Amino acid sequence: MSKRAFNFCAGPAALPEAVLQRAQAELLDWQGRGLSVMEMSHRSEEYTAIAEKAEQDLRDLLSIPSNYKVLFLQGGASQQFAEIPLNLLPENGVADYVDTGIWSRKSIDEAKRFGHVNIAASAKPYDYFAIPGQNEWTLSDNAAYLHYASNETIGGLQFDWIPDLGDTPLVTDMSSDILSRPLDVSRFGLIYAGAQKNIGPSGLVVVIVREDLLGRARSSCPTMLDYKIAADNGSMYNTPATFSWYLSGLVFEWLKEQGGVAAIGKLNDIKQRTLYGFIDASGLYSNPINKADRSWMNVPFRLADDRLDKPFLAGAEERGLLNLKGHRSVGGMRASIYNAMTLAGVEALIDYMGDFERRHG
Ligand SMILES: Cc1ncc(COP(=O)(O)O)c(C=O)c1O
Repeated sequence: MSKRAFNFCAGPAALPEAVLQRAQAELLDWQGRGLSVMEMSHRSEEYTAIAEKAEQDLRDLLSIPSNYKVLFLQGGASQQFAEIPLNLLPENGVADYVDTGIWSRKSIDEAKRFGHVNIAASAKPYDYFAIPGQNEWTLSDNAAYLHYASNETIGGLQFDWIPDLGDTPLVTDMSSDILSRPLDVSRFGLIYAGAQKNIGPSGLVVVIVREDLLGRARSSCPTMLDYKIAADNGSMYNTPATFSWYLSGLVFEWLKEQGGVAAIGKLNDIKQRTLYGFIDASGLYSNPINKADRSWMNVPFRLADDRLDKPFLAGAEERGLLNLKGHRSVGGMRASIYNAMTLAGVEALIDYMGDFERRHG
């Protein structure tokens, strides 16, 4: 029997063990058909059923209204940074962007290649430790859309509110917090999420787009990047990432079995309160983020003396607590506690942190 560690990686992240076991059981012979999902034609009856069920389960989980298309695309979330302006920003138009961290800035830099970008708000004056309230934003009169990242995976800054912009479509990078708690999809024009955190394996990106935003792509937009072409072809204009799509479907089924996003949201709340509570009460560890803007999914923390970082990480690995090193751009530590991370995993981390503090604090 293999021993599974507690994996706190920001992405590709831990997947539910039950999902991996099911994929393993089905790997060689999917439901008695004598072949693997990886070996099926994406046009076959079997695969069509797999793909449609995955989409329906995601629709059920997020109560996605019928006037939204769900697309299973390739190129990760990063490709969306270009795909969004190519589809939604007219050549002479302007798009508003909110800068709350590294992923926001990557989307801004890419959008600037395609048109005029207005930085409506930035967390820079707050050292990226707090999100500026909407009353501080400078919006354009005629923005084609407003883009923001609901959860900054590296900085650990998360919106716990949805901007209210009237008719301007909200376009949101939810790569690291989709499906982590209930969400009112009808408030958004477009939601996208790279799969490798709360959805499934990397390489796949899920796009949920309101139908009236389809068919606006520039004439120069590559065929493969045009949302309408993807939608009209059921995300199969070319061969999709079939295995990633299938595995994501297994994750959606698992999430339904857990009681859906309401139930997982309650558990995620307990996990984040337990971990931040411990950090705030300790003398050795700290998290700098404004309490209302703290991420439920990615918890960055520092040790009071960074010479302790190495022994902290080595001791963690010995206990099977993996991938706690912070992103190279910010240093320190980061515990990513997505849906597949159990409360037992968070408690094991806190146990270790407490022991380490008693020895080194
Ligand atoms: C918030 C956010 N946006 C975008 C990305 C980029 O995703 P991908 O590597 O799938 O392009 C990531 C990756 O971790 C992310 O966390």
